[in-house]
Amino acid sequence: MKIALGCDHIVTDTKMKISEHLKDLGHEVIDVGTYDFHRTHYPIFGRLIAENVVSGKADLGIALCGTGVGISASADKVPGTRVVLVGDVLTARYAKKELNANIIAFGGRILGQNLIHNIVDVFLETEYEPTEANKQLIEKIDNSIEVSPEIAENDHIFDEENAKWARGEYHD
Ligand code: RB5
Repeated sequence: MKIALGCDHIVTDTKMKISEHLKDLGHEVIDVGTYDFHRTHYPIFGRLIAENVVSGKADLGIALCGTGVGISASADKVPGTRVVLVGDVLTARYAKKELNANIIAFGGRILGQNLIHNIVDVFLETEYEPTEANKQLIEKIDNSIEVSPEIAENDHIFDEENAKWARGEYHD
């Protein structure tokens, strides 16, 4: 797979180890930076990762900053991304299987290197399951990009989901 990989200056060393890990597994890495420890800004790299994924240059993206918060929020602003900030293997599997997440993010100062590699492995290995329910949920998420002031005042936008819930159609 082609993986877009990026970070801010706080966790460049962690990113380089992820890059080596990905290459050892046979993946192609598009390293969008940063490449050293000079002060920089995570929105640049969040956006670069996202643009590579959305344009199809990369199949998936991996993003990290100190906490993972800044770079994941930045990447998620680019239409077409589904970014998940993850701290465990189970969440990574769910994110790919159910929501077809295309960018995974970490706090490089929060998680250990081995756990990050485990999470990356699960994220890459897990296949998206395009069930009707998953497709509809993803469509709802993607549709949230249309900003509409009426939505905040509309008490009926989730009527369909609430009715399904009442009929017992949702199962965890
Ligand atoms: C440093 O800019 C730090 O704020 C950043 O790496 C990250 O932790 C933000 O979420």
